[in-house]
Amino acid sequence: MPTAPHPAPTRAGPPTPGANPSGPADPRRRPEPPHPHPAAVPPPTPSGPVEPGARPTDPAGCPRPSGRDAARPVPARKIDPTVSDFLDSTEETRPASAEDGSPRHHRAKGEPRFPEGPQADPAGSHFERRIRSFQPRRSRVTTGQADALQRLWPKWGLDIDGQGTLDLAALFGADLPVVLEIGFGMGEATALMAAEDPATGILAVDVHTPGQGNLLNLAERSGLTNVRVANGDAIILLREMLTPASLHGLRVYFPDPWPKKRHHKRRLIQPEFLDLAATRLAPGALVHCATDWEPYAEQMLEVLSAHPAFENTVAEGGFAPRPAFRPLTRFEGQGLDKGHVVNDLLFRRVQDRDQHTPGV
Ligand SMILES: C[S@@+](CC[C@H](N)C(=O)[O-])C[C@H]1O[C@@H](n2cnc3c(N)ncnc32)[C@H](O)[C@@H]1O
Repeated sequence: MPTAPHPAPTRAGPPTPGANPSGPADPRRRPEPPHPHPAAVPPPTPSGPVEPGARPTDPAGCPRPSGRDAARPVPARKIDPTVSDFLDSTEETRPASAEDGSPRHHRAKGEPRFPEGPQADPAGSHFERRIRSFQPRRSRVTTGQADALQRLWPKWGLDIDGQGTLDLAALFGADLPVVLEIGFGMGEATALMAAEDPATGILAVDVHTPGQGNLLNLAERSGLTNVRVANGDAIILLREMLTPASLHGLRVYFPDPWPKKRHHKRRLIQPEFLDLAATRLAPGALVHCATDWEPYAEQMLEVLSAHPAFENTVAEGGFAPRPAFRPLTRFEGQGLDKGHVVNDLLFRRVQDRDQHTPGV
């Protein structure tokens, strides 16, 4: 399985942004940990896809369509809100200090796996009656990833708790244009793109704990200062925590294809999602999607082309040539191995009709 290479190790990253004040206590939620981002504004309104069954995943934790999987009914799985706290039982996490030979730390029942790290279901989205574009899953976290989560989460991670809007300049410690990447998987492509373009901040969101640890490791090894890792549902991040026109781009690379017809409603790229994304994207922002699942590519092209807030950067319409700045992603490599065709879509957020460019 080909994976994208990552740049050579260099140095460590930026300072921790400020704390996030929490809202009123919700009895359904776990106690709120301190959050490494400043917050202020109250949340807007719900939207986005909705929720049911389970599906098989690949080793990176991503669902994969195949003839066999498509044909075989998958039994519904109980959603486990502690899922992102799971560590494979064959591999114990040890605090960094245990590397010196001190005894392993055995957690008491209920003790969080990563006390300073990503929280399970931080916004309580499990309780939202909404179809989600991802399947909560138990995933193996390696000791290296666990170590990165322990050490680097307080510095570069943030839980999507829906408790206030983000000050992106404070989060990145610099006034960078910020691009949101939804579903970075293991983060190899994210790290490469961040290294290639240090003048752009990448706010990378996923629910996949091993990938979060992996991306933190890659960011540290590559000396990246322009990546922040968000844990939770991108819909809540967009809806509750990002201010209007705050994003300079949106990247969705190889989103879960949800090949079965009854699961199409789980696909991320839908008109309702674009309505929400459009409000958070600044005029001129690029929306870049790629997929190796052709029916989904057609759906993306259809809904993006029909949406009044977006225009195709390809004048004659249709798919865009693969831009040189997008590295091969892990999921893409798996698709190519299966002979899948990859399509890129590059759309631009247009100015709203009732908005005026100053001075025009
Ligand atoms: C198929 S994988 C692709 C990963 C990576 N982009 C690649 O190409 O290798 C899709 C990823 O999107 C994540 N994802 C799906 N819906 C999401 C959501 N609403 N919020 C955050 N992450 C999501 C999944 O957890 C999964 O890691």
